[in-house]
Order: sequence, then structure tokens, then C-alpha cells
Amino acid sequence: MATKKAAKIVTVFNQKGGAGKTTSTCQIAGTFGHRGYDVLVADLDKQSSASKWLSAADESAPFPASLWAGHMYKGNIATELGKLSEKYDLIFLDCAPAVDQPGTWASLLVNDLAIIPTKLGPADTDALHDAFELAKRARIESGLNFPVRVLATAYRKARADERIALGKLAQNERYPDFPAFKTSLADRIAYPRAMLYGATAHSMPKAGDAVEELESLADEIAALLAMPKRKTK
Ligand SMILES: Nc1ncnc2c1ncn2[C@@H]1O[C@H](COP(=O)(O)OP(=O)(O)OP(=O)(O)O)[C@@H](O)[C@H]1O
Ligand SMILES: [Mg+2]
Repeated sequence: MATKKAAKIVTVFNQKGGAGKTTSTCQIAGTFGHRGYDVLVADLDKQSSASKWLSAADESAPFPASLWAGHMYKGNIATELGKLSEKYDLIFLDCAPAVDQPGTWASLLVNDLAIIPTKLGPADTDALHDAFELAKRARIESGLNFPVRVLATAYRKARADERIALGKLAQNERYPDFPAFKTSLADRIAYPRAMLYGATAHSMPKAGDAVEELESLADEIAALLAMPKRKTK
């Protein structure tokens, strides 16, 4: 009989389109897959981007995580998540670009960590308010003090405006409980390119810097989830 698992659940959400939700979800989920964990990517967006990413893999080198096309599911997402959490160590939910989605809310009520990816332009950071408020409401409604972190995506370190924006998010004065991760994902071709191959940056050529970022981010996430960096047998 398979051993019962109780997955750690991670919601990746932001109402803003193109914030880097799917790219970050697939890269992080795959990184934990490479670390030996049984990982599920739950695609809650009807654009199916995460589904396409994971399905693009060659049979000889499958993506290191399983897929659940949650956006096609007609039943109760919360109930299904409960069942799925018995089969995996970690579940990452790639949410649709809107905060009023029932799937996002259901996930936030049971999750162990919420990640809000964002690019660093003014229109992107100004739009974070709704995501912070949703996370705040979910904490109150669930009674769970789950951690919430902002993830800077496609970060261009050479740009002063982006460095300043990231500095502000690191403190997050208005929402000090929801700071940015220490690690950002820089603007690197290896991240989107990996989608074409149904892989993570680990399989891309000359992607050492991207891999280093992903490993450092995964270490931060493992610490927040109080789990070992790698799966120990
Ligand atoms: N770290 C990165 N480096 C380079 N490009 C990136 C990075 N993260 C995201 N992108 C690019 O930004 C665009 C949007 O990314 P992505 O699809 O992951 O965002 P999303 O939030 O899931 O979008 P949607 O709201 O449509 O679901 C894509 O073209 C993607 O390749
Ligand atoms: Mg997406």
C-alpha cells in the first residue's frame, strides 16, 4: 500500500496578467522534482500554459512533476485538493490572472505558502495591492498564519528603477508580513526557453546563473515549509 502523504500546498497567484506566475511555478515545481520530491502542478488557468509546459516534454525525459488540469475540473476544488494532497509531497497551484477566481480562494484557504510573482515596473507593483488584500483575507478566514512572499520575476538588475522597486518590496512597509524573497528570478532566456522543451532551466545550455537562482529560491521555500531541502528516504 502506498504511504499516505500530506502535501505542502503552495498557491502562486496575482491578478495581474503576465506577472511570471506560470514560468515561476513550473521552474520551482521542477526544481523540487529534481530534488526527489513527488510534485504536482495544478493548472487552474484556462489558458492552460502550465499544462502545455509540462506536456511539451519528450517521453524520454519527462518533466519532473505531474500535472492536474484543475481548470477543467467541475467539482469542488478544495475537496479534490484534499484528496490529491494524499498522493504528493508538494502541490504548486498556478492560478489564473484574476483574484476573484474560486480556485485561487480555495487554495489560499488550505495552503502552506502563498507566492505572489511580479515584474518590477510601476504598473506591476502598483497592482499588488489586490493580491496582498486577498492574502490578508484568506489568513483571517482560514485562521492560518501561512507565509506570503513576493517573488520578483524577470528582474533587470542593471535598471535603477527595478533595483529601487525590489528594495521597497524587500521591506514592504504597508504589508511587512508579506516581504519579497531574498532570491529574485532575473530576466533570463533560459526560463521561457525551457517551456519549449517541457523542462526546467537545469536542462538548458549555459543556464548556470538561472539554476543557481532556482536552487537558492527552492532553499528559501523549503525553509518556509519546514521541509528538508532534498527528499530524504
Ligand atoms: N524570469 C523571467 N525571465 C524572462 N522572461 C520571463 C521570466 N518570467 C516570465 N517571463 C516571461 O514573461 C511573460 C509572462 O510570463 P508568464 O506566462 O509566466 O506569466 P503569467 O503570470 O503566468 O501570465 P498569465 O497571467 O497570462 O497567466 C512570458 O513571455 C514569459 O516568458
Ligand atoms: Mg500563467
